[in-house]
Amino acid sequence: MRALITAGGRGTRLRPLTHTSNKHLIPIANKPMIHYALEAVATAGIRDVGIVLNPDTGEEIRQALGDGAAWGLAITYVMQEAPLGLAHVIRAAEPFLRREPFVFFLGDNVVVGGIRQFVERFQARGEHGHLVLAQVRDPQRFGVAEVRGGQVVRVVEKPACPASNFAVTGIYVYDTPIFEAVHAIQPSARGELEISDAHQYLIDHGFRVGFSEITGWWKDTGKPEDLLEANRFVLDQVLDGTGPEIRGAVDAESDVAGKVVVEAGAKVIGSQIRGPAIVGAEAVVERSYIGPFTSLGRRCVIRNSELEYSILFEDTQILDVDVRIERSLLGREVVIRRGNSRPKTQKFILGDQSTIELC
Ligand code: DAU
Repeated sequence: MRALITAGGRGTRLRPLTHTSNKHLIPIANKPMIHYALEAVATAGIRDVGIVLNPDTGEEIRQALGDGAAWGLAITYVMQEAPLGLAHVIRAAEPFLRREPFVFFLGDNVVVGGIRQFVERFQARGEHGHLVLAQVRDPQRFGVAEVRGGQVVRVVEKPACPASNFAVTGIYVYDTPIFEAVHAIQPSARGELEISDAHQYLIDHGFRVGFSEITGWWKDTGKPEDLLEANRFVLDQVLDGTGPEIRGAVDAESDVAGKVVVEAGAKVIGSQIRGPAIVGAEAVVERSYIGPFTSLGRRCVIRNSELEYSILFEDTQILDVDVRIERSLLGREVVIRRGNSRPKTQKFILGDQSTIELC
């Protein structure tokens, strides 16, 4: 069985972070988001993986993932010329998929607990499609499934009045009828070939569509708050529970407690760090407080400042800031610092679609 992972689309809801970088490379616990999908398919015993790219940011993904050997995978890149929907993604990948059964995994979904059990269930039950569902509080953001007698009986994409609280996650296992479905459906009102319409086609034409309810933890990282929450969860789950893991240097005046990783070459000087948190390689934390659920990328510098529940990409600096920063997402080479000039004013140099919240 092969797997198809998406790394295309527009990433509009995560601007400005996605103006300069592909959304699937945003770090969750200091690891590009798409690595979690690659790990999940590798542990399910799948070797041949197609990665779907868009023409704008495809090269960045190719550079980051290479031929897949780092995960024991063989990656084939598939170009989708325009983001015309998830059913269109399957059409674009047909030469790679060879009209055989496959796993379809949306690369912006982070799942903890693996996907092997879903593939095994699909195979054991001899289904034509298998959807992984999760109960959520806001089903109108997702494809929503109605289930009866162990089968999915209806799927509607982002309904205004959801018939259940079962969201269809971004993990699907298919037998060959899906190829017929993606060719038969028409674009939706928003002009996309919807995967939910392909699922409904299978149901309407008598194909068996089964489901599993997610067993581990799952997040669709569509919005900034989702990224912070995924970071919180992964830091909590993935970091070793036995205490700090120090590969860098922590001086005697510092206090590092809980699940904390200080990567090689990083320096913690006169600071407090409360885990779960990661201080990336060669980062410097000086006379500062780093609170729970914080990831600092490589070479970040935090000086005389307080930071909590945030994700900092690489090479970002927070210097002498006297209000605590929290629930923040800072891209690469961002600088936030206190100035000394008079009159005392706030100064901003922000790219398009940035957000600042002042207190
Ligand atoms: O995450 C689960 C949800 O994913 C499902 O509940 C929905 O039924 C399904 O339609 C999808 O909804 P989203 O609105 O979250 O899809 P999004 O546009 O964010 O795209 C999901 C992934 O697919 C992401 O990795 C980008 C990629 N993509 C998307 C489109 C539309 C492509 O590579 N090409 C595309 O044309």
